[in-house]
Amino acid sequence: MPSHTTVNDGSPIIIAHRGASGYLPEHTLAAKALAHAMGADFLEQDVVLTRDGTAIVLHDIYLEPTTDVRGVFPDRGREDGRYYAIDFTLEEIRQLRVHERSRRNSAGKEVAVYPTRFPLGPGSCGIPTLEEEINFIAGLDRSRGGSTGLYVELKAPNWHLQQGQNIAKAILEVLDKTGYAQRESQVYLQCFDDKALRYLRHTLKTKLPLIQLIADNHWGEDSEVDYEYLQSAQGLKEIATYADGIGPWLMQIYRGRSSSGEIITSELVSEAQNNGLLVHPYTFRRDELPDGIANFEELLEIFLNTVKVDGLFTDFPDLVRSFLRQ
Ligand code: G3P
Ligand code: CA
Repeated sequence: MPSHTTVNDGSPIIIAHRGASGYLPEHTLAAKALAHAMGADFLEQDVVLTRDGTAIVLHDIYLEPTTDVRGVFPDRGREDGRYYAIDFTLEEIRQLRVHERSRRNSAGKEVAVYPTRFPLGPGSCGIPTLEEEINFIAGLDRSRGGSTGLYVELKAPNWHLQQGQNIAKAILEVLDKTGYAQRESQVYLQCFDDKALRYLRHTLKTKLPLIQLIADNHWGEDSEVDYEYLQSAQGLKEIATYADGIGPWLMQIYRGRSSSGEIITSELVSEAQNNGLLVHPYTFRRDELPDGIANFEELLEIFLNTVKVDGLFTDFPDLVRSFLRQ
């Protein structure tokens, strides 16, 4: 098993998914500070680029699901009605406020994706650059003590290339500048696209641990890879030639219940671990439980104590920390 399997003590790692996003709008510095205080081992950064090539921390290549861009720049959407971060300079991005994730319902009304979370309304935080966020986390590590890890996702690398931008290089430049490019036990790079991971490993020659995210083939990820193949014995062997672990969707491991009520799990975790790969599934949410699971603790029990993953992405890092303490 690679040396960066765990932070200190052999426990699975807690990755705060977009920060403590179960409590505060995702990818705000406030959500990262709360996750830090809750004892997350790693804080996740989803990264996209601005028009001027700055790496910013944002989940989508679009701005409207989490910001007030429609109100601030009403004429800047593309023909498909979407507001692409890459069409805006950093100076323009700084004028936006982040709110709880929302979507338009069938009546055209903006509603919260997770209705019981932070209220949907005018936000008070902006979108951080990757560099600002790393410096913020390093500052918290100093003032509170700790060596919190970064878990950086390259979003849509193919799409960025089509727009004339190289997101892999942009991210490595920031990690280099902030001194994190050499911190192999404190940084993971993750991506749904195998080509981007191979490029990071073989062309850019990063030594940082790489995680192959695994989607469902029907989601339409910006990648040509066959995710069914990646979960096969051959696929996992191949992943082990360029990456250090996998980040599967939790439903690729928990498969539901049998007719007699028994929990069914796939062999993905043990097969990946037998190939020397770490397994960090996503996304564990108290307010979005899979069918057949009664509560969050039951879900954690399956993944942490039965199939024994090496870490997990969660919107609720405090609940996972409290489960692990027990
Ligand atoms: O990166 C792991 C998990 O976050 C993948 O899903 O869509 O939340 O980035 P997403
Ligand atoms: Ca992510």
